[in-house]
Amino acid sequence: MDTRADIPRIGGDPALFEVPARTGLPRPGQGPDGIGPTGRPLPDLPDPRPPQAGPKNALIIAMTNQKGGVGKTTTTINLGAALVETGRRVLLVDFDPQGSLSVGLGVNPHTLDKSIYNLLLSRQYTLDDVIAPTNVEGLDILPSNIDLSAAEVQLVSEVAREQTLLRVLDKARDRYDIILIDCAPSLGLLTVNALTASDKVIIPLECEFFALRGVALLTDTIGKVQDRLNPNLEILGILGTMYDARTLHSREVLERVVQAFGETVFHTVIRRTIKFPETTVAGEPITTYSPNSPGATAYRALAREVLARCPGA
Ligand SMILES: Nc1ncnc2c1ncn2[C@@H]1O[C@H](COP(=O)(O)OP(=O)(O)O)[C@@H](O)[C@H]1O
Ligand SMILES: [Mg+2]
Repeated sequence: MDTRADIPRIGGDPALFEVPARTGLPRPGQGPDGIGPTGRPLPDLPDPRPPQAGPKNALIIAMTNQKGGVGKTTTTINLGAALVETGRRVLLVDFDPQGSLSVGLGVNPHTLDKSIYNLLLSRQYTLDDVIAPTNVEGLDILPSNIDLSAAEVQLVSEVAREQTLLRVLDKARDRYDIILIDCAPSLGLLTVNALTASDKVIIPLECEFFALRGVALLTDTIGKVQDRLNPNLEILGILGTMYDARTLHSREVLERVVQAFGETVFHTVIRRTIKFPETTVAGEPITTYSPNSPGATAYRALAREVLARCPGA
């Protein structure tokens, strides 16, 4: 039996993803009937508003999933860069001792003399000592390296250890419109710090079997942080990543994610493409490396969805 014949044609034509950037609404994944890859009609999202005038008070969003390789770092970089295109000032926080976010933006973690570790564990440093600009105007980074793994141990004996990152980022709120935190693949004290410091969480989920494994543990951790440390924390959305429209499998996984989480799932889905690993080597976001690629268009669409869900940002 040819199982391919069973594949619904929704969003299956790669040509549909070749939406040129900045000309009208990017609607990646839209099928001929207006249905998006998540099986729901794609909404007509408004053009992004310019950022709020007046003093800034950054919205802080954590990118969290204790599974590695699901697209947390890629999403932090490219959503950040897409938000910058809307005129916002964005700070990206590398909160993974592996330093992949730093590498992805051309910062060599091994040669850093100061990193977020110093801000967490010593009062002698200021944000200005550590924040670095990137090659993208309006996009800054708080870099990290392997020192951050020591912080996880050292913080255990600190007073109010869960609020340490919150105290650091509170001082950055008046400089940025949005702060994105790239979490490590764990649910340990660093990730609890990120959730305590955040207003919202985005959960990237790979469109693969077992994607939903471990999500209960993650939502349980988010629930505990809401109860005990940060009652205002909300799940902003679940993002399907590594999506392959040609496989029934990818579609089935997305279907199950939508069954489980309903409208929390972003309409935007990030397709699997070799362009993303390439951008890491280039040390820049896909929005500048390959501005008209489907991947760049998808992250711009995600930025629209994020802004539509966060009216104040
Ligand atoms: N949509 C995608 N298509 C193909 N490769 C991707 C995609 N998103 C991320 N990758 C690659 O997969 C690997 C893991 O992604 P990453 O963002 O580092 O995940 P995480 O931060 O969750 O561990 C990286 O090599 C990255 O370049
Ligand atoms: Mg990562």
